Amino acid sequence: MAKPIYILNGPNLNLLGKRQPEIYGHDTLDDVARSCAALAQDLGHVTELFQSNHEGEIIDTIHRARDLAAGIIINPAAYTHTSVAILDALNAFDGPVLEVHISNVHKRESFRHHSYVSLRADGVIAGFGVQGYELALRRMAVLLA
Ligand code: DQA
Repeated sequence: MAKPIYILNGPNLNLLGKRQPEIYGHDTLDDVARSCAALAQDLGHVTELFQSNHEGEIIDTIHRARDLAAGIIINPAAYTHTSVAILDALNAFDGPVLEVHISNVHKRESFRHHSYVSLRADGVIAGFGVQGYELALRRMAVLLA
């Protein structure tokens, strides 16, 4: 069976739907997991969604992806702007990596304009709301074809 596409989510995204809905919308991470699983099925893939508030757990999951995942879609949340360690872990992953941000980070505070993860990402989506995950999944299916 084909390897799954990992959808990794960083800190505070467990609160999606409740946290600053004026910025991040009302959909929850469970809604994202469901819509991505349904779309993945249409595209002939399987997704596994993870969320952690802990940098080391995200890194451990990326390490597991080296053997277990076909590609990684990642919203590193605040670690986007701080984590060389997540960048290093992604650099040790051979498959495609797509970076997603729900909000348009370039329209926000200047500290959100820089992304360490973008140095590795094959594509970046920002400002499309949670729809960005589905758009990334469609692109991932192309990259994996
Ligand atoms: C985010 C943007 C980040 O700057 C922020 O820290 C988040 C979410 C987004 O999806 O828009 O937690 O990655």
